[in-house]
Amino acid sequence: MRVGILGSGLMGAKLGTLFAHAGHDVTFSYSRSEQKLTRLAREAGENAQAGTPAEAAHDADALLLAVHWLRMDDVFRQVGDVSGKVIVTCSLPMNADNTELAIAHKSSGAEALAKRLPKARIVSAFNTVPSEVLFNVFASRRKATKPSLVFCGDDTRSKKVAAELIRDVGFDPVDLGPLRMARYTEPFALLVAQIAYEGTGGPEVAYRFERFGK
Ligand SMILES: NC(=O)c1ccc[n+]([C@@H]2O[C@H](COP(=O)([O-])OP(=O)(O)OC[C@H]3O[C@@H](n4cnc5c(N)ncnc54)[C@H](OP(=O)(O)O)[C@@H]3O)[C@@H](O)[C@H]2O)c1
Repeated sequence: MRVGILGSGLMGAKLGTLFAHAGHDVTFSYSRSEQKLTRLAREAGENAQAGTPAEAAHDADALLLAVHWLRMDDVFRQVGDVSGKVIVTCSLPMNADNTELAIAHKSSGAEALAKRLPKARIVSAFNTVPSEVLFNVFASRRKATKPSLVFCGDDTRSKKVAAELIRDVGFDPVDLGPLRMARYTEPFALLVAQIAYEGTGGPEVAYRFERFGK
């Protein structure tokens, strides 16, 4: 697939690199440093390039949205028309000082995004895992037992895309159902982050957390 990365920070840089290593054609975009985007593309290998958000979105089969909630207006102004686009969002609707969810309980960031971009195909994925563990999971992706990773959405095509990308990164994709399930996964993502960064077990605990079950 052609995957456009909107936001090339901790999540976007790592996931984009892994998508490129899994064989997808990746464009890194949206950073304050063009040099950083060029470096990321060079390090991710021959399947990757740097571009603007509009270039990342052009002909993309999927867009990974990995920006702070407050950057939403700016990034989509730069992207332009998103009609029919699959948008995989890992962005959490955090307040300015990252202390709490600005949208919660009766709605979610993913649902707010879908309302705001009604012609796009929104799927929520990757936000329940800390970026730190992603390379390790990818490196051990051929193991029989994979950590699971949840996703949710209302659009069949975007869910297929999300499941494929989740599998490529090394997780077992678990479809939770409709996009409104993000009301529960987004607070869960905060719990995972608290465990990872405030607890004693570090980010490793976080993906083990998703693995209860078989
Ligand atoms: N990090 C995690 O483990 C994690 C886990 C779950 C969910 N999330 C969610 O994923 C999203 C991204 O998180 P992150 O940790 O990857 O954030 P981040 O490292 O801060 O990356 C955000 C990206 O946005 C870019 N950006 C910020 N302001 C900009 C501006 N004015 N103009 C252009 N680009 C700008 C940053 O550019 P620079 O390259 O210049 O910094 C960076 O590439 C957030 O919504 C977060 O809640 C993160």
